[in-house]
Amino acid sequence: MDRERYKIHLPTFRYPGNLSTERIWHPKLLNVLNHDGISLRKSMYQMALYFKREEGYDFIQYSMEEESKNKHKAFLFYDTTYSIKCCAYGGFVMRYREYTNLKSHWGLQWIWLHPYKRNQGLTSSIIPFLQQKFGDFIIEGPLSKAMEGLIKKLNLTDIHDNYERLKININPA
Ligand SMILES: CC(C)(COP(=O)(O)OP(=O)(O)OC[C@H]1O[C@@H](n2cnc3c(N)ncnc32)[C@H](O)[C@@H]1OP(=O)(O)O)[C@@H](O)C(=O)NCCC(=O)NCCS
Repeated sequence: MDRERYKIHLPTFRYPGNLSTERIWHPKLLNVLNHDGISLRKSMYQMALYFKREEGYDFIQYSMEEESKNKHKAFLFYDTTYSIKCCAYGGFVMRYREYTNLKSHWGLQWIWLHPYKRNQGLTSSIIPFLQQKFGDFIIEGPLSKAMEGLIKKLNLTDIHDNYERLKININPA
């Protein structure tokens, strides 16, 4: 058994100074940009890595070198337990999807929280914020059991299954 694969080490980073207000989207969230310092982007990468490991995917759905032209917004959940440094304990990525047969839309590509931070209503609490900021966004599949449960509990089936509503009739009669 590869013990390293099971370790969860929460990364720390210095809170970036002089943040413009548009980057402070939500009190628990920090929007990580592609020109941010390495510790911030590494923290984001670490969250994506834990998501990949836990859900058994074969690639990491965030790159530290990703260009902003790949329209995406990466967010860290963070804590300020340490006096100087912040500690990241979760993250998620929203991606702008453009297809020929669907209206362009944002998708919640992945989200991961440290197990000790789960089931405290954190994800539920940011859904209205995501709706406000990203409009008619989609929670992209495949869904984990936890996300399936959350969608059911919050009656968000419309958010996951609303591809129908985004369909464009490309062959109008
Ligand atoms: C999915 C995830 C982000 C949810 O975040 P969270 O902040 O813990 O969710 P909330 O506290 O807002 O909501 C908890 C609700 O989710 C559902 N839920 C959580 N874990 C569940 C599980 N294992 N099985 C079924 N439903 C589950 C329940 O409805 C729960 O409410 P309850 O405690 O009253 O039963 C978190 O569990 C996580 O990081 N999981 C690992 C990665 C993952 O699955 N990502 C989603 C990929 S689609």
